[in-house]
Amino acid sequence: MSNDLHEANRRRWDAAAEGWARGADARGLWRRCPAEPELVLCDRELAYLRGGVAGQHVCVLGSGDNQVAFALAGLGASVTSVDISQPQLDVAARRAQELNLEMSFVRADVTDLSALRNGSFSVVYTGGHVAVWVSDLSAYYAEAARILEPNGLFMVCEYHPFRRVWKESRDLLAVEYPYFSRGPFEYDVSAEVLYAKPGTFKSYEFHWTVSDYVGAALQAGCRVLELHEFGEAVAEWEGAPLHGLPEFLLIVARKDVEPAGPGDASQHP
Ligand SMILES: C[S@@+](CC[C@H](N)C(=O)[O-])C[C@H]1O[C@@H](n2cnc3c(N)ncnc32)[C@H](O)[C@@H]1O
Repeated sequence: MSNDLHEANRRRWDAAAEGWARGADARGLWRRCPAEPELVLCDRELAYLRGGVAGQHVCVLGSGDNQVAFALAGLGASVTSVDISQPQLDVAARRAQELNLEMSFVRADVTDLSALRNGSFSVVYTGGHVAVWVSDLSAYYAEAARILEPNGLFMVCEYHPFRRVWKESRDLLAVEYPYFSRGPFEYDVSAEVLYAKPGTFKSYEFHWTVSDYVGAALQAGCRVLELHEFGEAVAEWEGAPLHGLPEFLLIVARKDVEPAGPGDASQHP
């Protein structure tokens, strides 16, 4: 079923794709990450993925610039890259060809992965500013869990929610969005995503809390193995002095072999 807010975001991302590609070209990471996955995956992520994904079917949801997808392909995984924006996927497919990586690209909304079969992946990876565009975190993670095989690995590495609440300011940290306000936050913006200016595109953003992320993974029938907060870098585009706040939230989970039903106390000692 089509979601009007997601469709508006898709139109914006479609228009943003070539500019986003130029930004990634300037950083140059996408060329290096198949051979140097540590450029885009932290040690904790690699502890699960390096040595574990070769020959496995892995899906990356909201794949964007596909740096993580390329890193996983470089580790020997058979990667399916999913994004709502066809122009984003077109850029990624062009690059995959240049890198000589065989991958599949599927255009889909992360809340409706009906194009992908139940239990068809041993790893699902998502994150790096995807949930901020998604209106229903529970539906998103339920779909991720559905396409995972039993005991499959679900890995989420998202921009930390503590970084989303601040007023734009060079030197003052002041709350603009209460932590518990999930949105939607509606903006009239230009196609440029990183340094958005006022413009004619509608954009809808959502602010999820730490417990929203963990709760959605549990509700999807996954058991959480590890929760990790890391990173301290502050980028120019963040627009506030965020030093001292965590940069990323990592959730590592496995799909339960038999997902617990609501109120099934035996699964929760
Ligand atoms: C900031 S990128 C994040 C991915 C990657 N970390 C990156 O930096 O390119 C956001 C990506 O999510 C995609 N996206 C937004 N909403 C989506 C949705 N509902 N379903 C699937 N992909 C979505 C956008 O098209 C975009 O490519």
